[in-house]
Amino acid sequence: MTRLPIVVLISGGGSNLQAIIDAVVNEGLPVDIRAVISNNPAAYGLERARRAGIPALTVDHRAYPDRGSFETALEAAIDAHQPALVVLAGFMRILGAGFVAHYLGRMLNIHPSLLPAFTGLDTHRRAIEASEKEHGASVHFVTSELDGGPVIIQSRVPVLPDDDVKRLAAKVLEREHRIYPLAIRWFAEGRLTLENDRIMLDGQPLTAPVDYANVEDTAQHAGN
Ligand code: GAR
Repeated sequence: MTRLPIVVLISGGGSNLQAIIDAVVNEGLPVDIRAVISNNPAAYGLERARRAGIPALTVDHRAYPDRGSFETALEAAIDAHQPALVVLAGFMRILGAGFVAHYLGRMLNIHPSLLPAFTGLDTHRRAIEASEKEHGASVHFVTSELDGGPVIIQSRVPVLPDDDVKRLAAKVLEREHRIYPLAIRWFAEGRLTLENDRIMLDGQPLTAPVDYANVEDTAQHAGN
């Protein structure tokens, strides 16, 4: 089986990276993680990559005078590995229009909210403070609008009365670890593309994000 070359960008703990690595090893996710790149040299995710035998490198944004020069260096580091897909997995730098345009249609991000709700940071606290009944995670194609690209798949969790930020974040993260490998699989299998700002899944335009609950139902009915 041909495996899609990917590069994963991280800034921190790398639990989503780990979920992708585990899906390659345990579930035959057909990707070849060519490199993991962090803007933060202390990111624990770099250690996860090394343990899995994946080249782990740092492009430290603090070493560059401005965003443009950082992004030029980052782009060179990514493109040296010739990925067909760039996966942002907890990469916490805002990306400029030129960088985003370079990877348009081949860069995914995961965000801890039900987009378009709660773009940006601190999503769990904001969901609790807004008395939301539901919260969750979204995987989307990256466009120049921050956390604003077309959404591929979402997973919802209830916000319970005794949920605090930590508990809610843990529930959402557990869902992130399911939907990100799934979306990457669809892309790697050629089922998922971005065409003129529109998501195509299995040859059909996606009119609303896939709800992971429905995918789970389908899998159960298929006896998987
Ligand atoms: C995840 O919750 C991810 O959705 C979030 O950072 C966390 C990284 O965790 N990303 C963003 O907020 C991007 N806007 P991880 O390093 O353990 O995968």
